[in-house]
Amino acid sequence: MPGRQAPPGDDELYLTVGAYVVPQLLYVAARLGLADLLAAGPMALEDMSEQTGAHPATLVRVLRALASVGVFVRGRDGRWRMTRAAEPLLDDHPRSRRAAILFAGHEQHLAWGAVMHTVASGKPAFDYAFGHSLHRHLATDEAAMATAEALRARRAARRDPAVVAALDLAGARSIVDVGGGGGELLIALLSQRPGVRGVVVEAPHVAGRTRARLQALGWGERCEVVVADARERLPAGHDVYLLAEVVHCYDDDDASRILRNCRGRRVVVVERVLPAGGRAAADRLADLHMLVMYGGRERTRREYAELFAAAGLRLRRVTPTASWVSLLEGAPRVAR
Ligand SMILES: C[S@@+](CC[C@H](N)C(=O)[O-])C[C@H]1O[C@@H](n2cnc3c(N)ncnc32)[C@H](O)[C@@H]1O
Repeated sequence: MPGRQAPPGDDELYLTVGAYVVPQLLYVAARLGLADLLAAGPMALEDMSEQTGAHPATLVRVLRALASVGVFVRGRDGRWRMTRAAEPLLDDHPRSRRAAILFAGHEQHLAWGAVMHTVASGKPAFDYAFGHSLHRHLATDEAAMATAEALRARRAARRDPAVVAALDLAGARSIVDVGGGGGELLIALLSQRPGVRGVVVEAPHVAGRTRARLQALGWGERCEVVVADARERLPAGHDVYLLAEVVHCYDDDDASRILRNCRGRRVVVVERVLPAGGRAAADRLADLHMLVMYGGRERTRREYAELFAAAGLRLRRVTPTASWVSLLEGAPRVAR
């Protein structure tokens, strides 16, 4: 159990097997919106239970368990209060991790619970657990889509300043952001380059939201949104094709199909690059996570070079950024 002291002689690694309990309790708190309730002021259990619809005698046990790890506290008057450790549960807060907690507690938790399916088949456990792919799940479940969107936007906000600083777009007149999500990275790039036009290519369930967002932010004129499956086709003839954390969602066959469809002068893949022979837990776990959730993978520089070659591209350079991703830049081996 997390927080448990290792008894002398006990195996520290073994203690991690109970590490699912606190994340699931945080999931309950995030799902019920407990932090947002308490942010408005201390509350009695009965009121919290009425507002959330939770079973009162169970809710108090959940609150006590959360309080035991510093999340929420019960005052002398018996009412429950916020703590600093509970701030990441808030929906709208600079330290909010609510979307990540929701996604981890449901989509990731259920997918990883079926990990043996992946081990036996090499296929994503997510599809086995949910009966369809994660992309389809997001296309059919509004709440899950909103959570994934918030999670992705936060990740982009942490990553994009480093990508913008490292990416040389000299001479580019048009950029296609393949799987460009809400268009955050494209906006960040175009806002520094007045004459350049942009295209976001997205799946249908994302594209409508992206189009509305770009229009609301005043980017509708310079940024087009195209609905397409990048494995099938992409708009041709643009200068730069950008793929930020998209390629790692796919196995080599689909990934090279996508890269082959990038018919322009430059292709820039924005991804974590695994060090050759690396042993870092963050890299190894991220790689397996992509397999369990999507059937994808993280890759070394050499694996990217092979992937580029399979798509008719030459990997010209790899530029690290100040974030976890590097820029892998390719160009067609022969003009196409
Ligand atoms: C992990 S998100 C990354 C989004 C964005 N590039 C970013 O870095 O914030 C992957 C995005 O790629 C889109 N995507 C994945 N496969 C795609 C495909 N085959 N065709 C078009 N879009 C795709 C998904 O809808 C999703 O928005």
